[in-house]
Amino acid sequence: MAKDFTTMEDSNRSCNHSIHEVSDPARRLVLGGGAMAALAPFLAPVACVSSIASLAGCAVPAGGAGPKLGFAGVAAGSADALVVPAGYSATPIVPWGDPVGIAGQMPAFRDDAANSAAEQAVQMGMHHDGIHYYPLAGSTRGLLVMNHEYVDDGLLHPGGMLPWTAEKVAKSQAAHGVSVSEIALGAGGWQPVRPSPYARRFTATTPFAIGGPAAGHALMKTAADPDGRTVLGTFANCAAGMTPWGTFLSGEENFQDYFATADQPTAHERRYGLRRTAWYRWPEHDARFDAVRHPNEPNRFGWVVEIDPYDPASTPVKRTALGRAAHEGAWVAVTQAGRAVVYSGEDARFEYIYKFVSRERIRPAGEGMSAARANAELLDHGTLYVARFDADGRGRWLPLTHGQGPLTNANGFADPGEVVVKARQASDALGGTKMDRPEWLAIDAASRWVYCALTNNSARGSAGQPGVDGANPRAGNVMGHIIRWREAGDFDGESFEWNHFVLAGDPANARPEARGDIRGDLFACPDGLAIDARGVLWIDTDMGPAAMHQGEFQRLGNNAMLACDPASGEVRRFLVGPVNCEITGAAWTPDGRTMFVNIQHPGEATRGRNDPAAPRRYSNWPDFRPDGRPRSATVVIRKDDGGPIGT
Ligand code: FEO
Ligand code: CA
Ligand code: CA
Repeated sequence: MAKDFTTMEDSNRSCNHSIHEVSDPARRLVLGGGAMAALAPFLAPVACVSSIASLAGCAVPAGGAGPKLGFAGVAAGSADALVVPAGYSATPIVPWGDPVGIAGQMPAFRDDAANSAAEQAVQMGMHHDGIHYYPLAGSTRGLLVMNHEYVDDGLLHPGGMLPWTAEKVAKSQAAHGVSVSEIALGAGGWQPVRPSPYARRFTATTPFAIGGPAAGHALMKTAADPDGRTVLGTFANCAAGMTPWGTFLSGEENFQDYFATADQPTAHERRYGLRRTAWYRWPEHDARFDAVRHPNEPNRFGWVVEIDPYDPASTPVKRTALGRAAHEGAWVAVTQAGRAVVYSGEDARFEYIYKFVSRERIRPAGEGMSAARANAELLDHGTLYVARFDADGRGRWLPLTHGQGPLTNANGFADPGEVVVKARQASDALGGTKMDRPEWLAIDAASRWVYCALTNNSARGSAGQPGVDGANPRAGNVMGHIIRWREAGDFDGESFEWNHFVLAGDPANARPEARGDIRGDLFACPDGLAIDARGVLWIDTDMGPAAMHQGEFQRLGNNAMLACDPASGEVRRFLVGPVNCEITGAAWTPDGRTMFVNIQHPGEATRGRNDPAAPRRYSNWPDFRPDGRPRSATVVIRKDDGGPIGT
């Protein structure tokens, strides 16, 4: 989601320490020999994609030993088109509104957006974001599992929001969430498989179980759910992680925008950014989203959710042990002892980076149980930490453990459940470092560097706001940067070293804080990150439509995807998206020869929502039909010679 600089949530008023010293440590840690190979039997048949590829010991595609970037970079551009390098093809599939593929329920998309709420509930959602490929037959047939982060109600309904009705609220809720759709590679390229027994939608009304310390907690109980153990729905799902046990993790990011509360929100509501009015206007027709009447309902969102796409009958779960935050997503590393370490950031100004270390070890599939079933409670027990980046290039993981340090009853944390529901307040008390909007993370299992995109924070250093610190060194940081760290010891270590991998921004900018140190093609506002099986770091950008093509962003063109060789730091632009889109998730088939990239909100309005009377004002990608409208879609990228992507 591209957040408007002027309407950003700024709810962190804690007085954590600030580091007034910029450092750029470049030390290296020597780590013990990896034992990932020992985990391989645990992990089959988990896909060998993204960072999981190296965790799972998958083969590196041919070409891994040569130069990492073998394509000719594309120029920055502003066309309403998707551009990839010469020698590559890019084909949109599974756009918003196409049927997801549930047998007997496959309504076609209507160009005038006249599909009903019930139809939308069995169609692809709007605004594609985090995505992963789950193999059914290696690299030729599999499941695409993806988030549908939010909606533009100006495009979702024929008349936009006028009038605003219960049916439109229901359609908006049905266009959010997560989809599972099946695809296969045939003579005509990748195509949807419809119907498919795996096809599924998770929306804002799908029942989710609650796992972890907040399950059954008083703060999670509502009139409709007096046990506090079942939540209806997930929404604001942003980035995604694939677990080594074959499930999908999705972060509930901007959940605060769906609730309305009193004129004077409580301190707890304020800390999570709740306001008197809800941007999505669901409370007007669904009282569940009126936090005055249902004060605990917001506590049931802001979690990482886990979905087993291989089991269509499985119940998805909210994993509360990972803390409640504006989670961008969640990414899993595996320790040599076989424990899961889940990294996560929250995309809001001055918020935090977390990691969770599982108490138990990852269990193998067997005795009739899938790996997902064998690890059904793995993420419910463990230790949650918040990151503190020190000015000397070191850092500490501070445990959010009830009863330790300030996290006591006397300080408003009655029990472990209250700590995770109030993870922001707990992190404030512990002194976590307030970051410049942590978006995606990527774990390089080979080098053990963990990368995090800090997309921007124009408020850094402004009046009444935190100043620069070592990890967030630029005031008025509209360009963003990528930070990385490496644990002292294994991934479950409690300290780390860190440095800035790259500061984004055009070096021609007059304002020093807007100049970057990029080696190669320019970009700003890094958001999506992923490391492929060859070790290439892929960077998706999210410059907001209001900022693009002007001032300090003038030479950067539309949002883009860039490839970076982490060894040399060279950055090369691989893909430029259509007008006013954002580039979101990236995923690969196990052979690295097909890449799936999500194009989110093509044609987003420069301010606010689109005008329903002019749906094609900014873009008509990907259909370009005269009576159509722009639609988020997945793009399938193949190399014409059939080689691995990026070579
Ligand atoms: Fe949904 Fe933080 O981007
Ligand atoms: Ca973003
Ligand atoms: Ca994002």
